[in-house]
Amino acid sequence: DSVVKVALLGFGTVGGSVARVLAASRFPGVQLTHIFNRNVDRKRSSEAAKLVPGSVVWTDNIDVILRSDVDVVIELMGGLNPVEGWLRKALAAGKSVVTANKQLIAYRGTGLAKIAAQHNVHLLHGAAVAGGVPVIPGMLQGLCGDQVTRLSGIVNGTCNYILSRMEAGADYATVLEDAQQLGYAEADPSADVDGYDARAKLCILSRIAMHAELDPDAVAMQTISAIEAIDFSYAKELNCTIRQVSRAELDGRIVHARVAPMLVPLASPMAWSHGTQNMVVVSGKFGGDVVFSGHGAGGEPTAVAVVSDLLAVAQDCKTVQLPVRRREVTGDFFAPHYLR
Ligand code: HSE
Repeated sequence: DSVVKVALLGFGTVGGSVARVLAASRFPGVQLTHIFNRNVDRKRSSEAAKLVPGSVVWTDNIDVILRSDVDVVIELMGGLNPVEGWLRKALAAGKSVVTANKQLIAYRGTGLAKIAAQHNVHLLHGAAVAGGVPVIPGMLQGLCGDQVTRLSGIVNGTCNYILSRMEAGADYATVLEDAQQLGYAEADPSADVDGYDARAKLCILSRIAMHAELDPDAVAMQTISAIEAIDFSYAKELNCTIRQVSRAELDGRIVHARVAPMLVPLASPMAWSHGTQNMVVVSGKFGGDVVFSGHGAGGEPTAVAVVSDLLAVAQDCKTVQLPVRRREVTGDFFAPHYLR
């Protein structure tokens, strides 16, 4: 039939937000049919579950999903095991996969993409880097004609949230706790502050931008947890602030790649990014610098990336047309009071 059936693996912060976005927009031709989670009864009674259609099958048995007739599996569980095995089976069974799993894509993305190609299905992972900021689709579609020589930017929202609040005087432990409360941080926040999360994202971006297959373990990283208030005072004397910066630079056949807290001039756009804002500057040989910026962590921004990938798959299945809605047009936007 003409409906694209969707299973959601993982009903945490992002999974709940995906349900909310789907419920709010009701894309015709896309139907959520299954949700997989451990401890499924607890999830089923959560606030976010109220937005899930009554027809959805909730299960803690992955085989129910793998044996079902769903067309697209959205994976929001994270980690390599056991998720990699599940997704291999899903792809081999002819299901497309949409995932936000940066560690999996950094370490195993190329192998998974081969399986997807063999079975003529999609593997999309736009949500794995920079949440709601379309760096990956933007690079794939709009910049693949250039030769990218450098990637540089902020790709971990938790670190940016912590450092930009420390810059305003807050202390490290308090803001880290807030970032956890707000659902920005990884289950083990050392993945954020020590750089594991950012380096996985940097490897994914390098693969797309520079066709470079980097071993994440080989990327140099330095923690932000040793940064103190005094460091911001010194930085300020130099007209700088501190951000966790991820950089990869192509130098002949070598890629120099590093994730570390760095001094950033107060006059540079990276210093203006606060909270969960991510920013990636892609430098091309022919096109020069292109800047991507926006919210890189949190349920709803990440859900936007997930749902956008889902719609891309669904459109390619040729069964789904995005709705065209008639809108009123006015010139009010340009009223002088609106210009600030
Ligand atoms: N913990 C991640 C971050 C979530 O803070 O950026 C988004 O990948």
